[in-house]
Amino acid sequence: MAMDLAKEILKLKREKNALILAHYYQPGIIQDLADYVGDSYYLSEIARDCKEEVIMFCGVKFMAESAKVLSPNKTVLMPCPSAGCSMADMASGKALLELKEKHPDAYVVCYINSTCNVKAHCDVAVTSSSALKILKKIPNKKIMFLPDRNLGEYISEFFPEKEFILWDGFCRCHNKVSREDILIEKEKHINAKVLVHPECTKEIRDIADYIGSTSGIIDYATKDEGTDFIIATEEGILHELKKKNPNKNFFIPGDKICCQDMKKTTFENLYDALLNMKNEMIIEENVRKKALRSLENMHLLASQDVRSN
Ligand code: 13P
Ligand code: SF4
Repeated sequence: MAMDLAKEILKLKREKNALILAHYYQPGIIQDLADYVGDSYYLSEIARDCKEEVIMFCGVKFMAESAKVLSPNKTVLMPCPSAGCSMADMASGKALLELKEKHPDAYVVCYINSTCNVKAHCDVAVTSSSALKILKKIPNKKIMFLPDRNLGEYISEFFPEKEFILWDGFCRCHNKVSREDILIEKEKHINAKVLVHPECTKEIRDIADYIGSTSGIIDYATKDEGTDFIIATEEGILHELKKKNPNKNFFIPGDKICCQDMKKTTFENLYDALLNMKNEMIIEENVRKKALRSLENMHLLASQDVRSN
């Protein structure tokens, strides 16, 4: 039955000239069906550059929104319109404007995990894979970063000469990863390396062998000669990790690390959305144009080389 629906989706996709994008946190069966699977930065580039008229974004709302901001002439759909990011919803455009009034000299950097209304008031957006590279190119001394305090704090450690004003947002999944749970796994697998997403708290980052984005974690585990890894990020990433490394072992600390919103995509709602062209991303043009600046700056700064001297 599931196979039949998968075939129907692929048939519809061709008929509608659509492209299916999936984030690494999506259910495995959705990742297997997608044309491209990746981290937020990679998917934003594919969405910007693809030739297809329709993008079916299997991820959460800020990802589909960013695709629409970058490609206003494409139809961007989501399988499930209620798939949001609770961290992104922790900052509003209005609250950001109030904070900006108190710090008119700050350069405003938003994590791509933010709403379009927030991006509209920012100078540049970053993803976890591009943040350090982008920050290196910003000469301003005072940086406002939102909405993720953990990522902001992690970035700030690389730039002691700058002053950081951090928002108080967090990801409910990453913020609750426990140090004890990691240490329990470490006791069971003594040679295991700890790979951590920067949305985790400092006490987790402090015991990491590697800190990076979803694609960074996959690259590290794939290239490393070790065989055992404790993975402190959303468990959907295990699908690609195991696919690329069938002979290595991956352990998630604690019960599970699961983003419920990422798991809202099913074959059924994907099929329905594509068949009926449902759940289209619509963004007011005025807001889109303003938000575009921060995303364009992100692509520009992330793709330029930095001179180290
Ligand atoms: P990446 O950009 O590392 O894929 O992360 C996206 C995300 O939502 C992490 O929670
Ligand atoms: Fe948002 Fe956290 Fe889910 Fe990533 S894992 S999409 S930050 S709620």
